[in-house]
Amino acid sequence: MAFTALALFAALATVSNAALTRRVTCPDGNTATNAACCVLFPIVSNLQTNLFDNGTCGDGAHAALRMSFHDAIGFSNTNSSLGTGADGSIFIFQDIELGFHANIGIDDAVNQESPFILALNGSISTADFIQLAAAVSLTNCPGTVRPTFMFGRKDATFPAPDLTVPEPFDTVDSILARMGDAGFSPAEVVALLASHSIAGADNIDPNLAGLPFDSTPSTFDTQFFIETQLRGTTFPGTGGNQGEVEAPLKGELRLQSDSELARDSRTACLWQANVNNQAHMAQSFQSAFAKMQVLGQDTSQLIDCSEVIPISKPFTGQAMFPAGLTKSDVEQACASTPFPTLPTAPGPVTSVAAIPQS
Ligand code: HEM
Ligand SMILES: *[C@@H]1O[C@H](CO)[C@@H](O)[C@H](O)[C@H]1NC(C)=O
Ligand SMILES: *[C@@H]1O[C@H](CO)[C@@H](O)[C@H](O)[C@H]1NC(C)=O
Ligand SMILES: *[C@@H]1O[C@H](CO)[C@@H](O)[C@H](O)[C@H]1NC(C)=O
Repeated sequence: MAFTALALFAALATVSNAALTRRVTCPDGNTATNAACCVLFPIVSNLQTNLFDNGTCGDGAHAALRMSFHDAIGFSNTNSSLGTGADGSIFIFQDIELGFHANIGIDDAVNQESPFILALNGSISTADFIQLAAAVSLTNCPGTVRPTFMFGRKDATFPAPDLTVPEPFDTVDSILARMGDAGFSPAEVVALLASHSIAGADNIDPNLAGLPFDSTPSTFDTQFFIETQLRGTTFPGTGGNQGEVEAPLKGELRLQSDSELARDSRTACLWQANVNNQAHMAQSFQSAFAKMQVLGQDTSQLIDCSEVIPISKPFTGQAMFPAGLTKSDVEQACASTPFPTLPTAPGPVTSVAAIPQS
């Protein structure tokens, strides 16, 4: 009885809140709860058509996501010289920041986004544009939880220095220290690395581009966390490249950093917790990503324009060991919880196709 009354009250409260929220109609016909968000709808639409190939989770989307991280991580809670976070500095000071070793390949993303940023002519900040593009890119990748978007970032007045972006050949100590200095716990570092589920390498093997980190680089699914835990047996090319270790599938590239984070006692159980747990992976990423997107910014000055972000593409799929592989190929690293039981994909052993380059 008491529960029913409470539920009814809650339902009525929801209705009256909705009735009180006055929506504005934007010039392009979209409606928004805050008129300040109207400017973003045509930008989102333009991005979907012209930067993300009509809303696909391909090379353009991957590049925009990586760029948002490399911009934001130029930040420290202990040293203000390390940058002002998600501040557009990677674009504004590209002459400096693209020269840093960790930013190899970011020039592609800068070149792809450049015409859009120049055409906007400062009507939104470059910092906002970079994070908006990344948030929209994620909605094209089935399996993500719809990202939030806060609007109103201030652009950088000085570049981030070198060495703010972790390298794949850095130790786990160094990666956790650098990310911790920017405000991320080990759990949030693992959460953010779900991004490598929709990613690949163009610049680790000098002879090969678009080498995916898992067998499904266009889907934000848990395969990345499964496949990084399997015994490495092969390289996509000749191997021997800095930051690369053996992968379990032909055509796949495994970063040394992902391999070590999957096996380190501080992060192994956090890593394994994503396996076949789509909801945990997607939700923990969404939260950590929201934090990353406003790094260094005064959030009290930002407007919540999440309503301009499209609904994420839905995901249906089953986590599996790749064909030919089983639990006996897992290098178990989480000491407290056994590796989940999973089916093996049917059919003969396959290799993973490279990601088409835009
Ligand atoms: C914390 C340690 C991290 C390390 C060491 C690392 C390292 C790398 C490396 C070496 C590549 C390949 C670059 C290339 O050869 O083209 C890569 C790709 C990528 N990374 Fe990370 N990353 C880290 C974290 C993140 C985070 C936090 C995000 C986003 C939230 C992210 C998103 C991506 C994406 C989307 C790609 C694919 C880019 C493309 O295919 O064009 N990474 N990462
Ligand atoms: C996007 O869709 C439009 C209209 O259907 C089409 O003309 C265009 O070729 C498509 N672009 C890509 C990259 O698929
Ligand atoms: C802060 O960072 C700058 C730029 O990397 C560096 O030169 C300086 O030594 C750092 N200061 C401290 C106190 O660590
Ligand atoms: C770009 O912005 C500046 C400053 O707001 C303005 O003076 C100029 O006319 C704009 N240019 C274009 C092409 O819109």
